[in-house]
Amino acid sequence: MASKDLFMVFTLFLVIFTVSCVSELTTKSSLKTTDIKLPTSIRPISYVLRLQPLINGNFTIFGYVEILMEAVEETSNITLHIKDIVTKNETVELYLGDKPNGQPIPIVEHSYDADRDFYTATLAEPLTAGRQYLLLMEYEGYLNDQLVGFYRSQYKRDDGSEVLLAATQFAAIDARRAFPCFDEPELKATFEIHVARQTNMTSISNMPLVETTPIAGSDDWVWDQFARSLPMSTYLVAIVISDFTFVNSTFNDHVLFRVWTREEAIDQTWYAIGAGPAILTWYEEYFSIPFPLPKQDMVALPDFYFGAMENWGIVTYRETALLADPELNSAADRERVATVVAHELAHQWFGDLVTMEWWSDVWLNEGFASYVEYLGTDSYEPDWKYLDMMVTYDVQYALVLDSLESSHPVSVPVETTEDIYQVYDAIAYSKGASIIRMMNSFLTEPTFRSGLTSYLNANQYGNAAQDDLWEALTQQAHADGTLATNLTVKIIMDTWTLQMGYPVINVSRTEDGAVVLSQERFLRVKSPNSTDTHDYKWWVPVSYTTQSSPDFSQTQPTYWIPSTEESITINGLPNDQWIFFNLQETGFYRVNYDQNNWELLISQLGSDANVINLVSRAQLVDDALNLARSRQLVYDVALRLCSYLRLEDEFVPWDSALVNLEYLEEMFTRRSGYGQLKRYLLDLLVPLYNSVGFVDDVNDPQLEQKKRVLAVDWACHLEYEDCVTRSVELYNQWMSSPTDQTLISANLRSTVYCTAIAQGGEAEWNFAWAQYLATNVASEQNRLLYALSCTREVWILWRYLEMAFTENSGIRRQDAVQAFNNVASSDIGRDIAWEYLQNNIALITDYLQGSSSIGDMVASVSNEFNTELELRQLIQFKNDNIDALATATYAIDQSIENTSNNIAWMDNYYDYIVNWLTLNGYPPFVSLIS
Ligand SMILES: *[C@@H]1O[C@H](CO)[C@@H](O)[C@H](O)[C@H]1NC(C)=O
Ligand SMILES: *[C@@H]1O[C@H](CO)[C@@H](O)[C@H](O)[C@H]1NC(C)=O
Ligand SMILES: *[C@@H]1O[C@H](CO)[C@@H](O)[C@H](O)[C@H]1NC(C)=O
Ligand SMILES: *[C@@H]1O[C@H](CO)[C@@H](O)[C@H](O)[C@H]1NC(C)=O
Ligand SMILES: *[C@@H]1O[C@H](CO)[C@@H](O)[C@H](O)[C@H]1NC(C)=O
Ligand SMILES: *[C@@H]1O[C@H](CO)[C@@H](O)[C@H](O)[C@H]1NC(C)=O
Ligand SMILES: [Zn+2]
Repeated sequence: MASKDLFMVFTLFLVIFTVSCVSELTTKSSLKTTDIKLPTSIRPISYVLRLQPLINGNFTIFGYVEILMEAVEETSNITLHIKDIVTKNETVELYLGDKPNGQPIPIVEHSYDADRDFYTATLAEPLTAGRQYLLLMEYEGYLNDQLVGFYRSQYKRDDGSEVLLAATQFAAIDARRAFPCFDEPELKATFEIHVARQTNMTSISNMPLVETTPIAGSDDWVWDQFARSLPMSTYLVAIVISDFTFVNSTFNDHVLFRVWTREEAIDQTWYAIGAGPAILTWYEEYFSIPFPLPKQDMVALPDFYFGAMENWGIVTYRETALLADPELNSAADRERVATVVAHELAHQWFGDLVTMEWWSDVWLNEGFASYVEYLGTDSYEPDWKYLDMMVTYDVQYALVLDSLESSHPVSVPVETTEDIYQVYDAIAYSKGASIIRMMNSFLTEPTFRSGLTSYLNANQYGNAAQDDLWEALTQQAHADGTLATNLTVKIIMDTWTLQMGYPVINVSRTEDGAVVLSQERFLRVKSPNSTDTHDYKWWVPVSYTTQSSPDFSQTQPTYWIPSTEESITINGLPNDQWIFFNLQETGFYRVNYDQNNWELLISQLGSDANVINLVSRAQLVDDALNLARSRQLVYDVALRLCSYLRLEDEFVPWDSALVNLEYLEEMFTRRSGYGQLKRYLLDLLVPLYNSVGFVDDVNDPQLEQKKRVLAVDWACHLEYEDCVTRSVELYNQWMSSPTDQTLISANLRSTVYCTAIAQGGEAEWNFAWAQYLATNVASEQNRLLYALSCTREVWILWRYLEMAFTENSGIRRQDAVQAFNNVASSDIGRDIAWEYLQNNIALITDYLQGSSSIGDMVASVSNEFNTELELRQLIQFKNDNIDALATATYAIDQSIENTSNNIAWMDNYYDYIVNWLTLNGYPPFVSLIS
């Protein structure tokens, strides 16, 4: 899924639209069962599904299913998944063979196990191993409004009329809400789907439409029949019934490509209909496997919980992930569409054609798609230099998350339903992607690609686990000679997937030119009472370059530090010049140097930074600031290193720097030293701000636009006068001529709106709210949703939170958590959001149908917590709500650890940094007399 699909983290500062690929709606059951797997005695072969949802009626779904299955071994019962379905016991029939012929086999009992969503038919006599049986069943389902299973969605047409549609979201385990099935990824089968609909709508599904037939006696109803699918998992089945229109493309000569949306938004499909077919075609070549289905649909749904979902042949998206206004699209809008489309289309092979055996390998699906999305995006938009972005968007992001003691391995055992929801997290997406990137770099691109193709070919229409991928890559690597024959990919990668965390490599040099590299787990804070006795060591690929012949392109390792060794020694390197390890941050680890080498690197950055590759400049800034934050490097070194930023002109190093400096800014927000820090940060930033300018130009290259957005957003956030004045001016002009859409460029809208609303009052807020309700463009709505949280009027923030969790307030259910997180991330809103959350936990979990988003919400609220009082409140909150927080426990533990770390950071560094600022030209008081 996409939060990139699931989990897209847009790291543009202050423009953080968390693509909720990571959180998922769940039901409230917190019951755990030790074994949630179905008995293995039966496996499905094929389904026939007939569904008639009463979209414009009482939302009943009349359902009928026929499942052809094989008894793998003798058994006296048939168990499958059912949830929120009313079965009709008397309609259940079982026959020997693949046709409902002859006498049915008697069923003596129907039973249900609600904890495990099991339905069991008990038989009078056992089924024979190796024979096929046909199970028929009629049932009734319900078209819910919870965005899971088969659900309904609604939108308003330009003429004001409300229109309903129906769509599915079956991942991870909600197909069982729409039809009785063997709802496990490994139980693949083929599907023949029939959908009844009214004639003023159309239906689409995974496969092409075969025929449409009238329903006798119901004038305006017809049955659509779709072609039988290839073998696939239940969670990838999808249906959309709507009045949408589409645009098509025949760019690919054997796949019909369509993009569907509301008629009023059809002109917003321009980007996706260009990118989608091109990227799909590029993947066919990249994987060396043609797309196996005759068509690919992509659908923008008005209500959608995740970012997007990779259903085979019919990818569903929230509107912001697929649509972009033809005139008013920002760099971020285009980037979001390109990357989510690239992510979902990568899943068509990795996930759909070959599927993980069990949810414990979700990381492989998601990490892989999160990696390949960069390649797919780069293929379509080479000017974006998108491969470089991965270092800040995923690698450095994951390095932060995975430095907590409460992290977890990417590969985790999944034993309960709650576990299934929790595995779709940032570790799976971002660390998964990062270690796949590392693997690509140590195996080399040609070996990686060929190994991947043989893995996909060997397992197509089936399932695989991580060991199968390791095996395919090892064979290829040995054949190509890119890996020593006594080493395997499994030996190396197990150290990265089965244990959590990652190392810092400490580099020290001796007088005679020997360099000692030693590995040690990198922790943000080493807890003195940790009970973890695991001996953390990794297989670490080591690449390096030197000052005398700098070359940052050879990322293949020259050495390995084995997981059996603490350290290795490299001889013969000069010690009066800098050396640099882990080129372009391809290895998932940090590097710490001795003082002398840091000084040499700092002077290189100061004299000619471009000698060091731009990704590696981002790496130096990120490593230095994180090492300082975790007490492994003095802050003085890290802050002096950052001073070269006054001359830095590239987006990637700036993005890394600001992500890190933001931490200092957050910790200082409510402290007396804030003014000093603000002046220091502006000093670094203003040269960039001046070079890109406040005035946007849509003809600038993408990277120039992104740089401008970053600089302007920060400048306004730090209340740089030029930025604030211009923003307020522009917004006022817009308020006087609301229909003039050209006044404010799409790139700067988030910043301009937020700044003006923060400076303004009720009138500015109300104007934005009116625009929010009026706009037809989802990404514009998203920008306004964010800007509305920027007000400093406490009562308006409170009202805004109440609206977020109220039906029909104008804020869709899918956006409630985002609205909350926006408020929680603002300086003024944070306390209000925290109070609201503590007082309304029952209301919120009820409104969201579960607790899994609470983790996100707590993380937003507590992000800047750095006092003992706040820590106590957080722990109290967890203890008071243990039951309500069922699926959010990982996330809340992380917030607690984060808060403790912030407290320790304040104790250790606040005074030190204030002092450093004072000594380096930023005293507490600026003299008013000059
Ligand atoms: C829903 O409407 C259908 C058709 O009118 C009717 O047959 C069915 O009994 C209704 N179901 C419920 C639960 O009201
Ligand atoms: C159904 O049969 C399987 C194997 O034959 C057995 O393990 C399981 O306990 C049975 N379940 C029920 C509910 O009888
Ligand atoms: C089906 O059978 C089960 C178990 O005997 C029973 O609990 C349930 O009420 C029955 N359902 C209907 C609709 O008859
Ligand atoms: C289709 O027709 C039904 C009744 O005839 C109506 O209720 C519904 O709103 C229409 N749907 C659309 C999408 O126009
Ligand atoms: C695609 O759209 C064009 C017009 O936009 C139409 O002429 C063509 O028939 C369509 N192709 C398919 C296969 O639907
Ligand atoms: C693999 O072989 C090399 C030399 O051929 C040796 O140095 C190394 O220790 C061996 N590694 C392992 C894991 O056995
Ligand atoms: Zn995904």
